[in-house]
Amino acid sequence: MEFETLKLDRPADNIAWITVNRPDALNALNRTVLEELRDVAKHLATDDGLDVVVLTGEGRAFVAGADIKAMVDYSSEEAQAFSVLGHEAFQAISDLPCVVVGAINGFALGGGLELALSCDLLYASDKAKLGLPEVSLSVIPGWGGTQRLGRMIGWHQARELVLTGKQIRADEAKRIGLVLDVFPIDEFQSKIEEVVNTIASHGPLATRAAKRALLDGQDLPLAKGIEAEQRAFGGLFGTNDQREGMSAFIDRREANWTRS
Ligand code: CAA
Repeated sequence: MEFETLKLDRPADNIAWITVNRPDALNALNRTVLEELRDVAKHLATDDGLDVVVLTGEGRAFVAGADIKAMVDYSSEEAQAFSVLGHEAFQAISDLPCVVVGAINGFALGGGLELALSCDLLYASDKAKLGLPEVSLSVIPGWGGTQRLGRMIGWHQARELVLTGKQIRADEAKRIGLVLDVFPIDEFQSKIEEVVNTIASHGPLATRAAKRALLDGQDLPLAKGIEAEQRAFGGLFGTNDQREGMSAFIDRREANWTRS
């Protein structure tokens, strides 16, 4: 696939890195970036051999938000359509069957933080700054900041970020549970690669089933979520990889996954 605003790297058959690549605009999200993010996510979703996608930004920003210069003259209808497009793109990322790691290298503000919220696991560099400054522009978060953030870190913490627009450093983001860990910027790539390699070393069918169960469970009453978990647990038994994973444990050897 050819992109104007993204880089797609495949360091291995089972790993993909998507880099938002508008560093002169701190990777701000315009329609083109959103369309390309949606399209690349839908394309990668069809790749059964993929275990991990890493999402990051080129230069000193992860993503500094929606493109303010593109939005400034939007009508109400245009703005709502922009919100719909962003949600489509972020939902496509969230729906990827493999694990998505958000590698927040720098600024993750407004729509940039909302993009990060579509990932499964978030890590930040010590140079990252995160926040939802939309109210300072007299708008509100339009891509999930008022909805997904509270579900992830709790409503009180989310209210503070949305209603004060404050920007927080990576260590504070870790303290409130927004990112899982913080790595020095000069070790950032190798630390993310360690996370990626750990995920990719496990039974790929199981990791995908676990991600699906976690996602589905967010929207289901507990009893329904438990039923879904029981079905997914049972569904993995009888696969070659389940027998291989358990036999490898018993034989004290490395497992050899066949995705079957
Ligand atoms: N949109 C468009 N351009 C942006 C941008 C954005 N969100 N963020 C940065 N840029 C551009 C700047 O205009 C500048 O371009 P020029 O050199 O052509 O002027 C370039 O990127 C570098 O930015 P700065 O000179 O401002 O860099 P800085 O280091 O002084 O400040 C910053 C960095 C604190 C991130 C600052 O750029 C900033 O505050 N950016 C805006 C953050 C923001 O408000 N994001 C929310 C957007 S609204 C939103 O996202 C709505 C939604 O939920 C859908």
